[in-house]
Amino acid sequence: MPKTFIAGIGHYVPENIVTNKDLMKYMDTSDDWIQERTGIKERRYAHRTGESTATMGIEAAKKALANAGIAATDVDFIIFATLSPDYYFPGCGVLVQRALKMKEIGALDIRNQCSGFVYALSVADQFIKSGMYKNILLVCSEKHSFGLDFSTRGRNVSVIFGDGAAAVVLQPTEDKERGILSTHLHSDGESAEILAMYNPGTHANYWMEQEFAHFDDAEIGQMFMSHAMIENAQNFPNMDGPAVFKKAVVKFPEVIMEALNYNGYKPSDIDLLIPHQANLRIAQFVQQKLGLSNDKVFNNIEKYGNTTAASIPLALSEAVEQGRVKKDDLLCMAAFGSGFTWASALVKW
Ligand code: ACO
Repeated sequence: MPKTFIAGIGHYVPENIVTNKDLMKYMDTSDDWIQERTGIKERRYAHRTGESTATMGIEAAKKALANAGIAATDVDFIIFATLSPDYYFPGCGVLVQRALKMKEIGALDIRNQCSGFVYALSVADQFIKSGMYKNILLVCSEKHSFGLDFSTRGRNVSVIFGDGAAAVVLQPTEDKERGILSTHLHSDGESAEILAMYNPGTHANYWMEQEFAHFDDAEIGQMFMSHAMIENAQNFPNMDGPAVFKKAVVKFPEVIMEALNYNGYKPSDIDLLIPHQANLRIAQFVQQKLGLSNDKVFNNIEKYGNTTAASIPLALSEAVEQGRVKKDDLLCMAAFGSGFTWASALVKW
């Protein structure tokens, strides 16, 4: 059975840099608070009308294809991971297929938020190992700036997120010493609502029973997205930050150890850990727990904030550019986020 390796990688971030100080114009926050709690100094916001989740993903995809040395027409499957798609439906995968004039190949959209990249990598790995596909384009992109509450009410969420995209090309290799060694995926839906964007959604008939009690059948269509939801700011992400933090610092090390144990490695064997860039404090906690030195962990959250599905491949792409990943390095990628879902991937570069 072949193994799967990352044959090409690339990223795209919008030009527009938004500093913590810039956010202070709209909400009661401070550069000190944001840096101290999250490590974030600035983030990028996509051009309001000129850029979307799909267009940023397409730019990253072009770079990954060039890096892999293949044409868009060589791709035989697309996977797109995002929580901020251009449309509620269809997903962004088909927009990549259209823009890059690809063949009529399959396009799969993955909705696993911060774990999106690792989940998608796992799916791609199965398709490649089974021999079904030879060139998979995996695109991760987020345009968070379009769905955040920039008033003080939403400050615990809005200061964290940024826009950006990254993509990888996955191919089979007969080199037994190289490629994806394993992926481990987990979920616990018990706390699904504590890190969630409720609307628009079909839950409304029970979640907002009071509000919709007076609706007659002819008005039922408004329950998906109503004026009241917008007036009450129920169209923004909701997060119990401390609860997420507490769970994340347990599950990150757990899923990393699961990957290491499965492959017979120990933390000191890791050449580079790329944690999902949720919060620098979480990454530092995980680093300390595993006893890793600074040169063994890659973070870029200070520049981009949390770009959710894009955060790990964006960090990996920058690490590769900076020469931080060398051939034969043992690379560990791990994520935790909404769902909750969490996951790890161990890769021999
Ligand atoms: N600026 C200033 N003050 C703020 C801000 C802000 N941006 N946001 C919240 N505060 C205030 C709160 O109102 C609160 O004030 P109070 O004490 O007067 O009530 C105080 O700061 C402390 O609030 P906490 O929420 O307890 O702050 P905490 O130290 O937990 O930091 C944070 C908040 C940064 C969100 C943290 O909890 C965190 O990073 N959690 C994990 C987030 C995460 O990993 N998410 C997963 C990825 S996202 C995804 O999957 C889609």
